[in-house]
Amino acid sequence: MRQVNLGMIGGGTVGSGVFHALQVNGDLLASRIGVKVAVRKVAVKALDEPRPYEIPASYLTTDWQRVVSDPQVDILTELVGGTTLARTMTMAALKLGKPVITANKALLSAHGEALFAAARRYGANLYYEASVCAGIPIIKSLREAFVGNRITHLYGIVNGTCNYILTRMKLAGVDFATALQEAQAHGYAEAEPSLDIDGHDALHKVGILASLAHGFWVNPKDIYVEGLRAITPTDIQFATQLGYTIKLLGIIKTGAGGRRTEGRGQQRKNGARIQVSVYPTLIPNTHVLASVNDVFNAVFVRGDIVGDTLFYGRGAGKDATASAVLGDLADAALDLKFGTQHRVPPFVPHERDGAVAPIAEVRSRYFVRLKVEDVPGTLARIARIFGDARIGISSVIQPAGHQGASVPLILMLHDAPNGAVSQALKRIGQLPVVKAAPVMIRVEDFD
Ligand code: HSE
Repeated sequence: MRQVNLGMIGGGTVGSGVFHALQVNGDLLASRIGVKVAVRKVAVKALDEPRPYEIPASYLTTDWQRVVSDPQVDILTELVGGTTLARTMTMAALKLGKPVITANKALLSAHGEALFAAARRYGANLYYEASVCAGIPIIKSLREAFVGNRITHLYGIVNGTCNYILTRMKLAGVDFATALQEAQAHGYAEAEPSLDIDGHDALHKVGILASLAHGFWVNPKDIYVEGLRAITPTDIQFATQLGYTIKLLGIIKTGAGGRRTEGRGQQRKNGARIQVSVYPTLIPNTHVLASVNDVFNAVFVRGDIVGDTLFYGRGAGKDATASAVLGDLADAALDLKFGTQHRVPPFVPHERDGAVAPIAEVRSRYFVRLKVEDVPGTLARIARIFGDARIGISSVIQPAGHQGASVPLILMLHDAPNGAVSQALKRIGQLPVVKAAPVMIRVEDFD
C-alpha cells in the first residue's frame, strides 16, 4: 500500500488529538483510502509541554523548519494557532508544493487571500475543514457537495462558548456574568474571553463561509459584528414571552441592500450585495436553530437547488477537531496518490463584483427594550419618532407599573433598514422620558 508521510507543526491540544486519532483509526483510514498516513515528525514549542494525549518523544522536535523541508515529508499540518508564525510556516510548506492542513480560522481570516493565491501559484492544496465548526463538515460541503448550488442563505451558530452562555441564561435564568463564569469553569471559555463573547471568533468563521459560498474574498473588516455583553436576563425573559430564543447568529444572505453598481464601461461593476454579519438574534422557537443548545454548533444552509439543509455537531474540542483534520488528510493523501492536487481548489474567486452590504442598508425586524418613565405621552412621543422614520411597530409590551416610575417598554418593529432604526433609536434615547440607552436586538424570520 502506498504510504504518505505527515509532518505535524503543533503538538498541543489539537495536534496531540490528531496524533491520537491516527493511532486509533489510522488503519481504518488506510483501508478506506488505500494510502497509509505515517507521522514522521511533530514540531512543538517545548518538548516537555503538557498535552492531553501523549506523543512519544522520538517524534518530537522543536525545529519546525526541518519538518517542513524534510524531503520525506509529503503533507504538513499547521496546528499552532496565531497568525504570524503560522503564516510563515504555512507559506514555507506551500512554496515547496506540499499540501497543508490547518485548523486556524484567525490565520485564514487575516491572510486567507494570500495563502490561497500561494497555494495556486505553487500547485499545493490548502485544506481547512477544522477551521470552521471543527467536526461539522461544512467546508467540504460548500467546496464540493453544494458546488452546483447558489447559496442564498446561510445561518450559523458557530461559537460554542456563546451558545453555552445563552443556553444557561435562558434555561437556568442566570445573568451573563454568571453564565460566563460557568463556561470558564467548564473550560469552554478562555480566562480572557473577549475573542468569543465579542463575536470575533464567529466573525472569522463566518468570513470564511461567506467567501466560499459567494466566490469573492470577504474582508473581515466588512463584517458587522456585535457580541453578547449587552444581553440581559430581561431581554431573554421578554424574548421567551414573545416566543423567541436569542442566539449569536452568523448570517450570510443574498438580496441585502440591492445590487452594487459602480464604475463605467468595461470597469463597471454590477455585483450582488451580500449580508455578512454576526450578532445576537431573536429566532422563533419554532425554527430548528432555536433548539441548538449548550456548546453545540449548527449551520443551516439554503441552496437554490437543494433547498434547506442542516449541519449539527461539536464545533470545538480536540477530538471533533481531529476528526476534521483526518478528513482533510484523506483528501490530501488521495490527491498525492492520483496526482490531482487541483481537483478541489481551496477557494475560487469566481464572483469578481460581489460585495458585503453595509449594515445600515440591511433590513430586518427588531426587538427594542427601553427603560421609560410611566407618564402620559411617553408612548406617543416614541411612536411619533418611529412613525416619522416610516418604521412600523408590530407589538408593544409594558408590564403594569406605578405612574411616574421607570418601567421596561418592549417594542417589536416591522421590517426596516438598520440605518433608519439606529437613527430613530438615537433620537428616542435623547427623550427626557427615556431613562437608559435603548437596547435593540434584531429578529430573524428565515424567509
Ligand atoms: N472558542 C470557540 C467556540 C471554538 O467556543 O466555539 C474555537 O473556535
